[in-house]
Amino acid sequence: MRYGHFDDQRREYVITRPDTPLPWMNYLGCEFYFGIISNTAGGYSFYRDARLRRLTRYRYNNAPFDSGGRYLYLRDNDTGEFWSPSWQPTRTKLDKYECRHGLGYTIIRSSCKKIEAQTSYFVPLGETLEIWKFRVTNRRKKPVKLSVFSSIEFCLWDAQDDATNFQRNFNTGQVEVVDGVIYHKTEYRERRNHFAYFACSKKLAGFDTQRDTFLGAYRSWDNPAAVARGKSFNSIAHGWAPHGSHHVKVNLKPRETKEIIFVLGYHENPADRKFNRPDSQTINKKTVRPIIAKYLDGRNVDAAFESLRRYWDGLLGIYQVRSPDIHANRIVNIWNAYQCMATFNLSRSASFYESGIGRGLGFRDSNQDLLGFVHMVPARARERILDLAATQLQSGGAFHQYQPLTKRGNHNLGSNFNDDPHWLILGVAAYLKETGDWKILDEPVPFENAPGSEQPLYEHLRRSFNYTLERLGPHGLPLIGRADWNDCLNLNCFSNTPGQSFQTTTNKDGKVAESVFIAGLFVRAGKELAVIARKRGQGEDAERCLAEIAKMETVIYQHGWDGEWFVRAYDDFGRPVGSKICDEGKIFIESQGMCVMAGIGLQDGKAKLSLNSVNKHLATRHGIVLQQPAYSKYYLHLGEISSYPPGYKENAGVFCHNNPWIIIAETMVGNGNRAFDYYMRINPSAREKIGEIHRCEPYVFAQMIAGKDAPTHGEAKNSWLTGTAAWTYFTVTQWILGIRTDYDGLRVDPVIPAKWKRFTVTRRFRGNTYVIKVKNPKGKQRGVKKLLVDGKEIAGNVLPVCPPRSDPIRVEAVLEG
Ligand code: BGC
Ligand code: NOJ
Repeated sequence: MRYGHFDDQRREYVITRPDTPLPWMNYLGCEFYFGIISNTAGGYSFYRDARLRRLTRYRYNNAPFDSGGRYLYLRDNDTGEFWSPSWQPTRTKLDKYECRHGLGYTIIRSSCKKIEAQTSYFVPLGETLEIWKFRVTNRRKKPVKLSVFSSIEFCLWDAQDDATNFQRNFNTGQVEVVDGVIYHKTEYRERRNHFAYFACSKKLAGFDTQRDTFLGAYRSWDNPAAVARGKSFNSIAHGWAPHGSHHVKVNLKPRETKEIIFVLGYHENPADRKFNRPDSQTINKKTVRPIIAKYLDGRNVDAAFESLRRYWDGLLGIYQVRSPDIHANRIVNIWNAYQCMATFNLSRSASFYESGIGRGLGFRDSNQDLLGFVHMVPARARERILDLAATQLQSGGAFHQYQPLTKRGNHNLGSNFNDDPHWLILGVAAYLKETGDWKILDEPVPFENAPGSEQPLYEHLRRSFNYTLERLGPHGLPLIGRADWNDCLNLNCFSNTPGQSFQTTTNKDGKVAESVFIAGLFVRAGKELAVIARKRGQGEDAERCLAEIAKMETVIYQHGWDGEWFVRAYDDFGRPVGSKICDEGKIFIESQGMCVMAGIGLQDGKAKLSLNSVNKHLATRHGIVLQQPAYSKYYLHLGEISSYPPGYKENAGVFCHNNPWIIIAETMVGNGNRAFDYYMRINPSAREKIGEIHRCEPYVFAQMIAGKDAPTHGEAKNSWLTGTAAWTYFTVTQWILGIRTDYDGLRVDPVIPAKWKRFTVTRRFRGNTYVIKVKNPKGKQRGVKKLLVDGKEIAGNVLPVCPPRSDPIRVEAVLEG
């Protein structure tokens, strides 16, 4: 079943009924002020950090699932009837409902009792505030007297503390209401110099700032006392739960429309000018007033909305495809790129499944995310790389996570995820290929953020590579440490204490458990490092790198090959994991994907054999599951992976993140049909027609789709913030469509379904726009035999970098052979 449709022209997803299987969400903001917004206006907002600077409160795992948000109420003052124009929280039946999620904005339209309403929510570029532009129209034959009530619940800033420390929190809340603006200033009296404000463009009939007065005792969001009686209480919060509600009266003649603008924002004052007078306890509002005034003016709001559109035009214009497949087109051109920006901005912090109070930025996650956004925001990618590298340890290892506010490594979790360092090499390689900015390798970057420890970024990459060489196990394969990419394959954990976190509990300093996956990753990253070293004139480093890679390849053939596929790992007893001799978990996806991507087995048929085994044992119609057979019980020596019931998450779920690895591997063996087929199984737009099974948003990828062992096979979970975003984008744009960045140019190497006759990609790259037409007259899956640049044939399949010019470079590629 469908719950809406794509509007590709406007680059929006249009949800046509409010009761989607799960809240279908969007993000507001793309710089430092962010909001999560659902199709019924649920969600919350924060400045930079969803834990420490949360403006509005949100209760996860609620019933209904998505309660609390940016709510408005409309009340007919003649009859006393009231409803929510975004459906939630009153859930009054609406005669019309439509939610348009666009790029950085959401518009919810509805009609109820012949009163039409439209609210546009967005965050202007460069600002730390959000706008709700509300328009209400009378479609009745008679004039109507309405009341509009706004409602948000202020969070007391630290979201973790907000949800736990009530003996304190019920006493600290403070607000001010001045000139119709509600200021939330809890803790401002002491060590904070930031506050929130909630303003309204119309004269107020009243306001409320104490939640329980607004709602009334034993009442809820669907029936607030102020709304029911049609009059605010003008309450001022002292402790308890500060809240923001404006009451505006609107009289409308037939067909008349009125507009009200609400502005919710975050503001910081200089520490020495926090208060009006040094001895007063009232907020100095001089710095914020001009900002509020600016955005209460509709013309400025419209101009800001226009700038936001242009911003996204610019970003998405960098890579556009016209292919025979509508799902590929819209996901590549719009939604996947957009999702990559969300993972860049938010990493894994705040969605409807990530609470915003948990992890910081993951070292491996953020390095992989780079693959999906480096072409859109190269300068910010550069900064991200340097931040990440600064959390690396002298040993070459890395803090597994760092905190976005402080940019410091997270000591609770520490290091020893032995795959981590290699992702830095791959991230830097992707950046160099996109930008050609070789100077970044000379940037002095500290270890563990310690001043004085700076070394050129290049040295960080060398240490990343050496890290593995210094940690080899009994078979000569890399020791796994706490875990590799698969956080849940915990071979040194042996946790038998209820409630212990597999992720943070102390592991034994294992000297036996090894990872074939890291071995593959080492080879792949090492190959990049060798090229980088050679290009930097460090030939010796390159030679050494290649020699070590060759040794590792030999070890993989000896101890990492199982006959029909690659082994996954060796456990703490030296027994294989992911081998035909295992009872469960005989074959894993990760080592197949990574070893083939590293080029292992391409010459001797092992790559094809491994991929055929994946097809036989792991592929399902809903994607490729992580391993088979699923673990049916808890295995102390395997850890969290066996804690999940069969078919979920790492225990044989379709963990979408690594499906693209198999897809890339398939393109490397020239199998365009299969590569594209696999891609379509997880492409959210292609899954739109099975909305009641898939349940998550049809416009973004989810982390997981339940595997074939699960009773809910095909059900997606944890949408939006997942490494799947970057990997699928990278895979389709660079490996299937095959317009691939390389150190010296843009490679054209599509591996496509044989039935595709042609496609066109427009790509901005190093100052030029390339319009690349690919023709496939003979129904091939791969093999560019002819490449014309501005009508002239060139040798090979790499478009050289050339001086920027204003007209596009016209390229024609013909597949043959
Ligand atoms: C999840 C992983 C995740 C890890 C770290 C585990 O419980 O299954 O997918 O990476 O937690 O938060
Ligand atoms: C999600 C984590 O963010 C990522 O780092 C990890 O690789 C996958 N889970 C697989 O466990």
